[in-house]
Amino acid sequence: MPSLASLAVALLGLLPAITALPSNAHLGPRQSRLRNARAIYFLTNNEDNAVIAAELGPDGLLTGRASSSLTGGLGGSGIDAATNLPAAPDSLFSQSAITVLGNLLLLVNPGSNTLTSFTISPTSPLSLTPLQTPLALPGSFPVTVAASRRHGLVCVGTTGSLAGVTCTRVDPATRLLSRFDTLRAFASPLNQTDPPRGPANTVSQVLFDDAEDRLLVTVKGDPGVEGRNGFVAAYEVVGGVVAREPVWTTSPEGTKVLFGAAAVPGGAGEVVVTDASFGAVVIGRDGGVKGGVRAEVDGQVATCWAAVSRVSGTAWVTDVGRNRLVEVGVAGEDGAKVLGVIDLSGGSNNTGLVDLATTGDFVYMLSPGDDKAGSGPAVSVVSIKTRELVQHVEVAAVGADGSAMGMALAF
Ligand SMILES: *[C@@H]1O[C@H](CO)[C@@H](O)[C@H](O)[C@H]1NC(C)=O
Ligand SMILES: *[C@@H]1O[C@H](CO)[C@@H](O)[C@H](O)[C@H]1NC(C)=O
Repeated sequence: MPSLASLAVALLGLLPAITALPSNAHLGPRQSRLRNARAIYFLTNNEDNAVIAAELGPDGLLTGRASSSLTGGLGGSGIDAATNLPAAPDSLFSQSAITVLGNLLLLVNPGSNTLTSFTISPTSPLSLTPLQTPLALPGSFPVTVAASRRHGLVCVGTTGSLAGVTCTRVDPATRLLSRFDTLRAFASPLNQTDPPRGPANTVSQVLFDDAEDRLLVTVKGDPGVEGRNGFVAAYEVVGGVVAREPVWTTSPEGTKVLFGAAAVPGGAGEVVVTDASFGAVVIGRDGGVKGGVRAEVDGQVATCWAAVSRVSGTAWVTDVGRNRLVEVGVAGEDGAKVLGVIDLSGGSNNTGLVDLATTGDFVYMLSPGDDKAGSGPAVSVVSIKTRELVQHVEVAAVGADGSAMGMALAF
């Protein structure tokens, strides 16, 4: 494993990328997620919000070359209801603050209620060009963004005083985004503030299902309040437009603090959703818990982020309070099942992990660190083949700190 110090220095150097890589300039066929990516992206979510791009080599590992690009918007942190201080790590109480759609990089600016879109250079994934001025959102405190390649749609979840879901279209020729549509408020209001107090009673994520014919939103309940369960709402995409009202809103049996989610491949409309209070469940197209079973993760603190690998055919989930990656089976008829735990403490001192993304043989995870615990922000990489930590890179030198969020891949 490369030394942390030498990689940190290489990142500090911010050397320009010189390798010419295959072009993905147009929104072509859907990525299979079987091959390696060209770069990873995450947000600093600092006051002047910035995207950190880190290049990946042909071997799937970080090369040490990175860039930082201002988004033109402001970051923002939720208020940790337990301490009354800005939340960190997990400053946004969310998954997917940044996402990739073909050669577009889309991200939220929680402090200025806007969305930024960049084009990713086909020859250098570290080179980002703003496509248009950040777009105003009709909600407050945006924390999560999803994109549909099939429909050319972009949707954002907001969780401040104006909480809900808003969507827009991407022009197929110019790649410009239109105005976001009127906010879809939730049937049961979150009664939040700006910034929101959490993590209870906040929006966790928006995502499309595997067939991209539904948009789902996950919302946390409050474990401290009897009967205040979280919910999932599903909105159909009809004629290329996201419906104004959900087809259903449900608080699935046995769930409480629904958090990050990922589409289960296969087109059946299933999603694996984490629940910070116990682990994960698979939610079916009808909104029910598949098999009626919960995958309960032993020794968990708060299981909150999920990605599904098309290589392993399983989900991988992280916990903000544990330095480990947990594998959850999602494909069987029986529902979610814990399959194994990969301990990362042999090669890293992460206090826990937040957003993650997977492609090819690798899982890339963000650890914002924790100043109070003396642990800095870092990216950890696990090999799906060997089920071991294969790289750990500190990222403070490129401007990341405890408020960093998100993880997206470019191909
Ligand atoms: C929001 O306020 C309404 C009306 O007072 C109340 O019924 C509801 O329980 C509140 N919801 C939360 C999440 O606090
Ligand atoms: C973790 O922290 C301990 C104590 O500070 C240190 O000795 C060790 O080298 C660190 N390990 C890594 C992988 O950074």
